Amino acid sequence: MNRSGVRGMVARLRGRDIEVKSPGEIEAMRAAGAVVARTLAAVTELTAPGVSTAELDALAEQTIRDAGAVPSFLGYRGYPASICASVNEQIVHGIPSAAQVLADGDLISVDCGAILDGWHGDSAVTIPVGTVSAADLALSKACEEALHAGIAAVRAGGRLTDISHAVEVACEAAAARDGVPYGIVQEYGGHGIGTSMHMDPFLPNHGKPGHGPRLRVGMALAVEPMLTGGSAETRELDDEWTVVTADGSRAVHWEHTVAVTADGPRILTLPG
Ligand code: MF3
Ligand code: CO
Repeated sequence: MNRSGVRGMVARLRGRDIEVKSPGEIEAMRAAGAVVARTLAAVTELTAPGVSTAELDALAEQTIRDAGAVPSFLGYRGYPASICASVNEQIVHGIPSAAQVLADGDLISVDCGAILDGWHGDSAVTIPVGTVSAADLALSKACEEALHAGIAAVRAGGRLTDISHAVEVACEAAAARDGVPYGIVQEYGGHGIGTSMHMDPFLPNHGKPGHGPRLRVGMALAVEPMLTGGSAETRELDDEWTVVTADGSRAVHWEHTVAVTADGPRILTLPG
């Protein structure tokens, strides 16, 4: 979500506005998350050269509705589709289109959200189209690793920016390993989630640990790093949705919805 999308600095810092779910409500979110995971699996299966992003969107909407759920993106602030399909230099919020036909070597990030029984799930994957370059695969792997490093830092009693810091450290480790100075997108980040898709707090993908609200059992967060193969600077297209890299470098996006439990992080957006 967008950095400016969350108001109330003091409430944010103290964590007073963060929704806390009961164990039963977390189970309900798990069910919503499973619908999102199954939808992303179906979209991944269909992704191939020659397929348009509108076709991916149609499959996603059908899969969500067949599960008795509702696509949360559709109509969100006027957003016209059930997924975001961000190809190559597009980072996030790419609008699916019949004119956007995938080609061999493309790299597509698909972001999907669903509402089931009033509870939200939100998850994103980056999918190689046909045969992509080793550099693109490494970029996507770096971002997926950063996502899981962030998730591993979700701990009751810990602080919000412990997650931010873990994401940043993992990105830097991958950049050092791959010899590429990956860019961490800063204008967008993760968010609280539950009875709405975007809730307090905003979760940056970089920063010092030990700041922000204290994490409590029953909170749920969407952790969503976005990485670029070049500059982290972003630009929004005239459609007022699509966010692209300013330098045209390729970008990737991985996201899970995660609950804070007494036993540690629980990923809610897994198939099941
Ligand atoms: N995971 C994306 C985000 O948190 C969801 C965007 S939904 C859209 O920013 F409808 F705004 F596209
Ligand atoms: Co999100």
